[in-house]
Amino acid sequence: MSKRTIVTLPGDGIGKAVLDETLRVLDAAGFEAEYVEGDIGWEFWRSEGNPLPQRTIDLIAEHKIALFGAITSKPKDEAFEELAPELKDKGLIYSSPIVGLRQHFGLEICARPCKTYKGNPLNFIRRGKGNDIEEPMVDVVIFRQNTEGLYGGVEWSNPNKQVYDAFMSHPKFKANFGDVPVEEVSISTRIFSKERTENILRAAFDYAKKYGYKSVTLAEKPNVIRETSGMMYKMALQMQANDYPEIELWNTNIDAQMMWLTKNPEDYGVIVAGNMFGDIVSDGFAGLIGGLGFACSAQWSLDGVAVFEPTHGSAPKYADYDTSIVNPIAMIESACMMLDFIDEKDKADKIRKAVAEVIEEGKTKTYDMMKMRGKPDVINKGAASTKQMADAIIAKL
Ligand code: NAI
Ligand code: MG
Repeated sequence: MSKRTIVTLPGDGIGKAVLDETLRVLDAAGFEAEYVEGDIGWEFWRSEGNPLPQRTIDLIAEHKIALFGAITSKPKDEAFEELAPELKDKGLIYSSPIVGLRQHFGLEICARPCKTYKGNPLNFIRRGKGNDIEEPMVDVVIFRQNTEGLYGGVEWSNPNKQVYDAFMSHPKFKANFGDVPVEEVSISTRIFSKERTENILRAAFDYAKKYGYKSVTLAEKPNVIRETSGMMYKMALQMQANDYPEIELWNTNIDAQMMWLTKNPEDYGVIVAGNMFGDIVSDGFAGLIGGLGFACSAQWSLDGVAVFEPTHGSAPKYADYDTSIVNPIAMIESACMMLDFIDEKDKADKIRKAVAEVIEEGKTKTYDMMKMRGKPDVINKGAASTKQMADAIIAKL
């Protein structure tokens, strides 16, 4: 069989450092692939006025599978300031290339696992009965709708007359905002489609079934956000009853869910939510298992395009260190999700086992695991560099 081709998208800041180390780990696990690098990120915004060039879209369309580091995004005005002078009069407006990728390829399913590693000094602990300290083992996978809802981009400030009139035809808008001058109105919509809501729910239930989780929890707010959350809840009830009677459906409100997060995180299995609530609840759970250095993700379309990325950003303040200090585990775990996706689960499991051994042994820890503030001198104080962490994992492999 010919080697598989993977598109690598290092992006900005620490993206390159964590991706380079991840490729070494993949190699050490015996995964054979051709890698082709795609241009994405701030550099291409500045020099070409497009952080997601068409040639990168073409590469992903051709090879389907991409490993993505991180990008830098900046507010509209700052982005404009940094554009190459010859591009400044072209009316270009910056938009995030990762959101662009999600929408272009319809990467509507996002999965974010949060699993406790034994011995991770960053694990959440709480006080139990009789004041003893408990360290609950979290094993949760969040399924987040990735393309619509509040991040769908349908929004206006000072909306035009047609839009404003349409909103004024809604009695609640009229009653609550009817006397606000139109130039003082900002609107961001939360649109859910039935088809894509069905798809994210099914992905969550299928995953729970395949991997033996006993429950799927819908973390929305159907009692208040009646149309979108309400539709999602009704569909979840029906889907569970018709197709997944062996899995329990739990319904929590997103706000209460965030409160319960620290109370009984070990009780949850698969969690499913719309775009924004999925983003929030997944960051919440990530905090319990070590934070951004450990939070991985996968996103895919139903026709098989998939992008795997750590949930952290480009951490620009650490980008230019001579020796990179950031934790590569989130990126390495994201690559394991890629291996699962392309039927190389044995190699993914091998890498996960190696990571688990390094963490449990506790000899190699990046600065975040030592609870240090990120500075160049953390290496002198005993923290492992990005490369040393990868080396330790490779040694276990
Ligand atoms: P960030 O995730 O880049 O960094 C926040 C803090 O988390 C860092 O200062 C660092 O203390 C810690 N951190 C992040 N990754 C780490 C790692 N691998 N190991 C150890 N510690 C780590 O988020 P921030 O500072 O809000 O944003 C920086 C830039 O990244 C912005 O331009 C933002 O737009 C972009 N961003 C990009 C994302 C993406 O590429 N998907 C996601 C989030 C932010
Ligand atoms: Mg987030």
